[in-house]
Amino acid sequence: MKIGVLTSGGDCPGLNAVIRGIVRKGIRTHDASFVGIRDGWRGLLEDDMFDMTMLDVRGLSGRGGTILGTSRTHPYEDGGPERMREVMAAHGIDSLIAIGGEGTLAGASRLVQEEGLHIVGVPKTIDNDLGNTDYTFGFDTAQSIATEAIDRLRTTAESHHRCMVIEVMGRNVGWIALHAGMAAGAHAILMPEFPVSFDQIAEWVTSAKDRGRAPIVVVAEGFVPEGFDSQVADQGVDSRGRVRLGGIANYLAPQIEEITGIESRATILGHLQRGGSPTAYDRVLSTRLGMAAADLAQHGHWGKMASLKGTDIVSVEMSSAVHSLKSVPLHRWEEAQVLFG
Ligand code: F6P
Repeated sequence: MKIGVLTSGGDCPGLNAVIRGIVRKGIRTHDASFVGIRDGWRGLLEDDMFDMTMLDVRGLSGRGGTILGTSRTHPYEDGGPERMREVMAAHGIDSLIAIGGEGTLAGASRLVQEEGLHIVGVPKTIDNDLGNTDYTFGFDTAQSIATEAIDRLRTTAESHHRCMVIEVMGRNVGWIALHAGMAAGAHAILMPEFPVSFDQIAEWVTSAKDRGRAPIVVVAEGFVPEGFDSQVADQGVDSRGRVRLGGIANYLAPQIEEITGIESRATILGHLQRGGSPTAYDRVLSTRLGMAAADLAQHGHWGKMASLKGTDIVSVEMSSAVHSLKSVPLHRWEEAQVLFG
């Protein structure tokens, strides 16, 4: 069997380990051969690919980014499924493994259901917002990077008796904020799922300051304060028309300073959270998901994706990852609040 592998959407630490897991398992166990497709669906539609061997994936488990490159090209543009069939036939490619997030898995699932293409998936996102999988690889790395950054910001905040507002990624969910904030001992964690008023934030900040602490506020980029009905910071849309998030920290810090009188600074961690080496946890998870995806393709389980359930890697419908996004549940918010202030 000849399998094409592509990575699509925003990159994420662990992508290379997935690719390595796929290729090693596929070649060693199933005698498969592989084609690396460059820049997601773009490479398939534009016939930009290369034969991928064990040599290509050597030493990849700890390397960030993706050796295949990625893009946000939509699979139904530029010739869409017809063009894909043509290119796959020309290269003798039987099936595809698509490694991606919400958009990629939704597109791949549609290509299987409506076009009968042979595709299996691997869920990917630092945001940890995909359904039917406990954690996605990349999330642990992002939360670790954010935690280390908050630890560092705390020491300078303490020296200057300042409040620090640290903005993390996550799109419309607060997983990175919740975990990094909890790990680093934040005095307030603000997430898109749970609007909070400026007065409440000021109360937590003042209470921390009154105990002699340098207040630490961790805010997810998608947080909308109580009383606002859309993002406070308008960053426009990206090339695919998706709302660009980011900037809430720059708005919050002066508000906090004005209400509390405590000097405040904002730091936006941004793409730092997606760069560099994956953690050991993410390397292992990625490798296992990659190996499982090679098995799914070998056994013709089209429309399925490898998923983490507890400590097991199982197979679930790709479409189930995107039916309902996994947001932070109320009980995690209630649990965390006892730590605030
Ligand atoms: O989905 C992953 C993510 O990093 C989000 O947390 C963030 O909002 C977005 O991608 C940023 O996208 P881009 O890399 O296109 O700026």
